[in-house]
Amino acid sequence: MNSGVRPTAESLGFDPADTAFVADPYPCYSRMQEAAPVLWSQSQQMWLVSRYEDCNRLLRHPSLARVFQRREPEQRWQTFNWLNDHAMLDTEGATHTRMRRLLSPQFTRTGLADLSDAVNGVCTDLVAQAADAIASQGVFDLVSVIAEQLPIRVVCALLGIPPEDQHKTHDWSLAMVRLFEYARSPEDDERGIQGAEAFAVYMSKLLEVQGPAPAAMLTLANAVEDATLDRREAVANAILLFNGGTGATINALGNGLVLLLADPAQRNAVIEDEAWECAVEEFLRYEAPLQLFERQVVGAADDLGLPGVQSGDRIGLLLGAANRDASRFADSQTFDPLRPVQPHLTFSAGTHFCLGAPLARMELQAILRTLLTALPNLNLAGKPEPEHTYVVRGHRRIPVSQIPMRQ
Ligand code: HEM
Repeated sequence: MNSGVRPTAESLGFDPADTAFVADPYPCYSRMQEAAPVLWSQSQQMWLVSRYEDCNRLLRHPSLARVFQRREPEQRWQTFNWLNDHAMLDTEGATHTRMRRLLSPQFTRTGLADLSDAVNGVCTDLVAQAADAIASQGVFDLVSVIAEQLPIRVVCALLGIPPEDQHKTHDWSLAMVRLFEYARSPEDDERGIQGAEAFAVYMSKLLEVQGPAPAAMLTLANAVEDATLDRREAVANAILLFNGGTGATINALGNGLVLLLADPAQRNAVIEDEAWECAVEEFLRYEAPLQLFERQVVGAADDLGLPGVQSGDRIGLLLGAANRDASRFADSQTFDPLRPVQPHLTFSAGTHFCLGAPLARMELQAILRTLLTALPNLNLAGKPEPEHTYVVRGHRRIPVSQIPMRQ
């Protein structure tokens, strides 16, 4: 497939198994953007696209589709396989429209209005806990105390998952999402398979619970009743909401706060200007918490504008690279939390544009405002510990403290 003359992604440094590349893929992305609109990756057996305009155009192109590759052996992977190919993210056409139309009303501004008070309440509660931790220990972990808690509590409220089950459902979700990394161990696979099975059983039972349920769960349960969805589709989409609604929001907040708290002048400027929206959009642009999404060429390849790409080929769209494209963003490699809001590709584009983007934005702005208003001198109190995974970009621990305000 590769002519042998062109550079490949690997020859420019692309290597998801290399911790140095994962720690800072951006210099490699710049080389890829300069070299060609598309590069073959031998290790991933797919083409990689890194420029903003190309990613934005291709995500909307009718010849490209999400095609879930069922894992084998089928018997071992069956639950993971159906959880994916029955959820909207991995369906196309009429099936995708049917599922997306069903859940869309929950995620519009109007649909989310009811949730806004709940989100603000969770933010106030979490920040009070953080302030207590600072008062008693001087330091706290931003990931476990704030970043994880907010989206997990919100998604659990959306789905009617009781507080005592939040921990185990999050563990299943983490194990499942890990299966989308390119560098995985056999233990990762086993944990992911078991997580998917346990989560499917749990969600199936939750769908059967009679009585008042939160709007999203009620919509799914009613859709099974009136045969708009089959049972597997309802379970798969409930788990998609959980997985989609937790990890990326956790990591967007953690990644962004690591950058913002590292520079007190920038932190102070955001507080002074109350620039919550600009700061959140820059968090999302600068460190996309999901770096890559795949598509397959299911139609003609002639008008894709990608030399060498043929029908049937797989294409990886590097959202994290596109967001740093110098031809699209001025000073693209500079983190500027006051940067005027400009579209980025962190939530993708086209038919699969993130359904939960308005909710994620609501949560991220609310927590940033609540946290920095209550604790304006929040600082990093040690080296943040990154996750070391490529597709999912985040931190497992971020120690922070509050330094007394200088008079
Ligand atoms: C910062 C947080 C988030 C990020 C970065 C993010 C990112 C994404 C991306 C990139 C896609 C599309 C993937 C593709 O084009 O192949 C997507 C789809 C989706 N996301 Fe999110 N997401 C976030 C938060 C949420 C939340 C809070 C929810 C819901 C509770 C959610 C639910 C979904 C769903 C259901 C889809 C599938 C949409 C479809 O296929 O039509 N996401 N997300």
